[in-house]
Amino acid sequence: MMMDVTNNHLPAVKGIDSFIESGRQIMWTMVQYKELQMTYNCALKEIKTKFEILDSEFDLKYKRNPISSIHTRLKGTQSVMKKLAKYHLPVTLDSIEKGINDFAGVRVICSYIDDIYSIAEAFLAQDDVTLVDKKDYIKCPKQNGYRSLHLIVSIPVFFADAKKHVKAEVQIRTVAMDFWASLEHQMRYKRNGKDSEAISAELKECADIIAATDKRMLTIRQKIDSEEDDTNEDEELLFRMSRLDSRLN
Ligand code: GTP
Ligand code: MG
Repeated sequence: MMMDVTNNHLPAVKGIDSFIESGRQIMWTMVQYKELQMTYNCALKEIKTKFEILDSEFDLKYKRNPISSIHTRLKGTQSVMKKLAKYHLPVTLDSIEKGINDFAGVRVICSYIDDIYSIAEAFLAQDDVTLVDKKDYIKCPKQNGYRSLHLIVSIPVFFADAKKHVKAEVQIRTVAMDFWASLEHQMRYKRNGKDSEAISAELKECADIIAATDKRMLTIRQKIDSEEDDTNEDEELLFRMSRLDSRLN
C-alpha cells in the first residue's frame, strides 16, 4: 500500500518496519528542503524587486539606469553539501539556514563604480533590510584582483500566517568587474584550482587594467554630468513629465 507522505498525521507504523520508517524520514527531509528553497526563492524575488524599484527611481531622478542587470540564484544541492563539509557542519536544514549565508544569492551589475555605493546605500536604508555583514572588495580587492561589494542581509518574508527572516548574499559590481570575475571563475574550473604564477599575474594585471578603466569611465560621466547641470527648473519638469507616461507600465 502507498504511504501518503504529504499528510502531517501519518498512522503509526506497526511492527516497526525500519525500512519504511527511514524512507518516511528522507521524504520529510526532502519536503522540508523544498519548502526551505521556496522560502529563499521568495526572498530573492523581494530583493530583486527592491533593486528594480531603485533602478526606476534613479532613472527618473538622474535620467539614466544605474543597474545594467540583476541575476538571482539558489545554491545548488552539490554546492550546499560542499559548503557544509568546508565548514564542518552537519547535513541538516538548520545548518543550511544558520551556517550558509549565500543559499540565496543576488548579483546586481551596475554601470559605474559610484552607482554601486548609491544603490547599496539606498537598499540598506530600507527598514526591512538588516545588514549582517559587508565585505568591500572594491576598496580592498582580493589578492588575485577580484573586486565586488558583498552584502549579507536578512529580510523578512511574509506568508499568510507567519513571517520568516531569511539571509541572502548580494554581490554588487560593475559590468567590467563582472566580466573579469565571470571569466576568472570559468578559468579556475578549467585549471582545476592549479594556478601557475604567470597566469595569476596576468589575471591580476587584467583586473587592475579593468579597475583603472572603470575609474576613467566614471570621470568621463561625471564631466558630462557637470556640463548638463545648467538645465532650469521648467526644462527639468518637462523632462520628468515626458518620462512618466513611458514608465507607467
Ligand atoms: P565563501 O562563500 O565560502 O567563499 O565565503 P567567503 O566568506 O570567503 O565569501 P566571499 O565574500 O569571499 O566570497 C563569496 C562569493 O564571492 C563566492 O562564492 C564567489 O561568488 C565570489 N568570489 C569571491 N572571491 C572570488 C574570486 O576570487 N573570483 C571570483 N570569480 N569570484 C569570487
Ligand atoms: Mg570565498
